[in-house]
Amino acid sequence: MSIEPYPPGDPADASQQAPSSLDAFWMPFTANRQFKSQPRLLASASGMHYRTVDGREILDGTAGLWCCNAGHSHPRIVEAVRTQVGTLDFAPTFQMGSPLPFVLAERLAGIAPAGLDHVFFTNSGSESVDSAMKIALAYHRLRGEGQRTRFIGREKAYHGVGFGGMSIGGLPNNRKWFGPLLPGTDYLRHTLDIERNAFSRGLPAHGLQLAEDLERLIALHDASTIAAVFVEPISGSAGVVLPPAGYLARLREICDRHGILLVFDEVITGFGRVGKAFAAQRFGVTPDLITTAKGLTNGTVPMGAVLVAHSVHEAFVQGPPAAIDFFHGYTYSGHPLACAAALATLDVYAEEDLFERAILLGDHWQDAIHALRGLPHVVDIRNFGLMGAIELEPRPGAAGARGYEVFERCFHEGGLLVRATGDVIALSPPLIVERAQIDRIFEILERTIRATA
Ligand SMILES: Cc1ncc(COP(=O)(O)O)c(C=O)c1O
Repeated sequence: MSIEPYPPGDPADASQQAPSSLDAFWMPFTANRQFKSQPRLLASASGMHYRTVDGREILDGTAGLWCCNAGHSHPRIVEAVRTQVGTLDFAPTFQMGSPLPFVLAERLAGIAPAGLDHVFFTNSGSESVDSAMKIALAYHRLRGEGQRTRFIGREKAYHGVGFGGMSIGGLPNNRKWFGPLLPGTDYLRHTLDIERNAFSRGLPAHGLQLAEDLERLIALHDASTIAAVFVEPISGSAGVVLPPAGYLARLREICDRHGILLVFDEVITGFGRVGKAFAAQRFGVTPDLITTAKGLTNGTVPMGAVLVAHSVHEAFVQGPPAAIDFFHGYTYSGHPLACAAALATLDVYAEEDLFERAILLGDHWQDAIHALRGLPHVVDIRNFGLMGAIELEPRPGAAGARGYEVFERCFHEGGLLVRATGDVIALSPPLIVERAQIDRIFEILERTIRATA
């Protein structure tokens, strides 16, 4: 199908062309035919808002895709990328370098939990997860425990779409199409317990004992076969599933007792989403590795990173100086444009005190989202930091349909971008969101949920 040309005067006009057809682009994680029959096309963005190709303003309730924590098109970040592309477009990082990734790694180590002082760069969350899995395997082998090859993930987890991340992930639709996946994986039970914890404000009270699942898996497989446990401190893609109070600290204790690495996948929770640079700091639990992406560059240039504990990195530098430490890397690890974007992003986060905003606004956010309790079909509401989820009862025989309709109506009728994962409406606005905009998000949602049968 063809779409309308951009309206005259739209700033996107000069830099983009209207496609004559939407056919050729095979969109990811999308019902392509449904989307293309009623497309939602964005042309420009600034601060808290997108503008569509037909000139409608859309309030961003999801920071793009959990990425744009500093808001859209921040002039400081735009300028940094613009300058960088005309100065050093690309520099290899295999046996070569440019100053940028070194500066960025130091800056990241400076905001990371104490002890995580080395950084491995990737281009996405999926690559960060697969890189962390390889670091864990090689670490144990270097220490003479090469039999530790098993990974423990968790039901409902999302760790991206590489074969590693998929294999430790726990979302059935992301797994079932792709064969047997990696051998040697097992799974903790997920921590969503609506029966006991529905409408909890902040962390749920019930479920700490679910951490004991790890002891069960250790008893089954023996600790000596397990390399690492991967968890999202808060599962975002599964619909904001929160850790019961004390759960993460308990996992840490068990891992420590058995020599197992603990990895926090902070692709969503990193960079201020829950009120500190990393959720590890908000929860007071330090993992051995943290995987990141998204907010690292405010979504402007693809980049991910693995933050690595000193003790883990040490194992890689015991050989002769001329030996390569780690046989792994990407052509674009530490890409100059991504580094420039990330450095400017970190400046903005610091100068505008954005990491604190999820705490500053936390009570307002919590009150506003929980005010939706009692609306038709709302079976649970969850929140932490500037993350939130409204879980709707599925329509009989049509799981996901109600959530999708709310998402579409919010966009087309309400001018609000939310994210639907099944029948869960997930929210994560840019951290620059103002109180009045939070109120607006929930006014639109209330109206939309009431209008959706
Ligand atoms: C926790 C987590 N890990 C990994 C990923 C994958 O990141 P990417 O899409 O950048 O590969 C995501 C994406 O949402 C995520 O939420």
